[in-house]
Amino acid sequence: MLRGLAQLIKRNNPLINNILNNQKVTMSFQKHSRRIEGLDKNVWVEFTQLAAEYAVVNLGQGFPDFSPPNFVKEAYTRAINGDLNQYTRAFGHPPLVKILAKFFGKLMNRDIDPFNEILVTVGAYEALFCFFQAVIDDGDEVIIIEPYFDCYEPMVRMAGGKPVFISLRPKPASGRLMTSADWILDPVELANKFNKGTKAIVINTPNNPLGKVFNREELQVIANLCIEHNVLCISDEVYEWLVYDGNEHVRIASLPGMWERTITVGSAGKSFSATGWKQAVAEGFEREFEHLGTPESYFICLRKELQVKRDRLAACLASVGLKPVISEGGYYLAADISEIDVDLPESTETNEPYDYRFVRWLMINKGLATIPMSAFYSSESKNNNKNFIRFCFVKENTTLSKAEEILKEWRRTLKVQ
Ligand SMILES: Cc1ncc(COP(=O)(O)O)c(C=O)c1O
Repeated sequence: MLRGLAQLIKRNNPLINNILNNQKVTMSFQKHSRRIEGLDKNVWVEFTQLAAEYAVVNLGQGFPDFSPPNFVKEAYTRAINGDLNQYTRAFGHPPLVKILAKFFGKLMNRDIDPFNEILVTVGAYEALFCFFQAVIDDGDEVIIIEPYFDCYEPMVRMAGGKPVFISLRPKPASGRLMTSADWILDPVELANKFNKGTKAIVINTPNNPLGKVFNREELQVIANLCIEHNVLCISDEVYEWLVYDGNEHVRIASLPGMWERTITVGSAGKSFSATGWKQAVAEGFEREFEHLGTPESYFICLRKELQVKRDRLAACLASVGLKPVISEGGYYLAADISEIDVDLPESTETNEPYDYRFVRWLMINKGLATIPMSAFYSSESKNNNKNFIRFCFVKENTTLSKAEEILKEWRRTLKVQ
């Protein structure tokens, strides 16, 4: 986009055109900074556009297509009607940071200082960006666990850091469907990634795209290494309320010695099913605080509803030979496409991973949008991780029914290897 913008300015600016045409100066127009070199493409831009063009049913991008709960919408309306339109405290609206400190203080059994230990940003995305900008110096190494939410890598690079990747490795699940818990980190391999140059590690639990929920023991291994090597941890917990099958969401900041070296990132947009809003959430947390742990809690109701949706989609995928990886948390589930035999058209791009071609084909020919999983891997690992695609199940039942119809119709024509 920046490149396009720079060219537009150049084309439409008479002064620049004059200068260039008359060659009075040999000025080279700086299109964009070197920092963002190579970051002009990402999976969301391409596939969101394609989905808008072709997909009847969009299970690609992670946003609910149902309404947020009424109590949050009412709070939003009250804020608008109450003319709350001007600046608030830059680091976070005081009622919001206060309820966040009270809410998470209770969950983590500690006093949290609302004015020094909480920062409100416009979405988790901005929080991640600010973290990397604030702590990474040129050449600092940042450990990233693959598959990962794709923005971590460019954000680290933009800050001058060096991403160091380690993959969760699936272990075979004989006689049953794989779950995201079957994807594990090798502790020795992880320990070998830490060295004097390591500044931080990024963890994401529940994870996007797999839905892996890191258990206490796995987090303790990471915590021990952070403490031993004096490394910071950024813990992306935007799906913290969406944990299924009785699994527990453990906050790494609550482990001994981790509070002071962890930045925990949450997302009100994800928690309240309002990914397009970035404000008006204090009242939502007030209400949830009252109902914490009770059946009236929206967080609990949503989790129950989503588990049913997950199971419904997983069953449907399994029935067409798209083997699902049952997610323990989050909005998504991954499915193995390696046994589906379709004649995909040749790609116009060299080395385009198979899952990209598959997703494009599925969208254009069947009207079903998904996201290729190799987008969540570094360029070195992409081609070894091209057999999964990601489905998002935080959707209306009618949307899921349409997806089921498409998949069932497709099954009739399908050759499963
Ligand atoms: C793991 C993860 N972190 C952060 C975000 C961004 O969250 P927000 O919408 O609050 O910026 C997303 C959005 O999909 C995500 O999946």
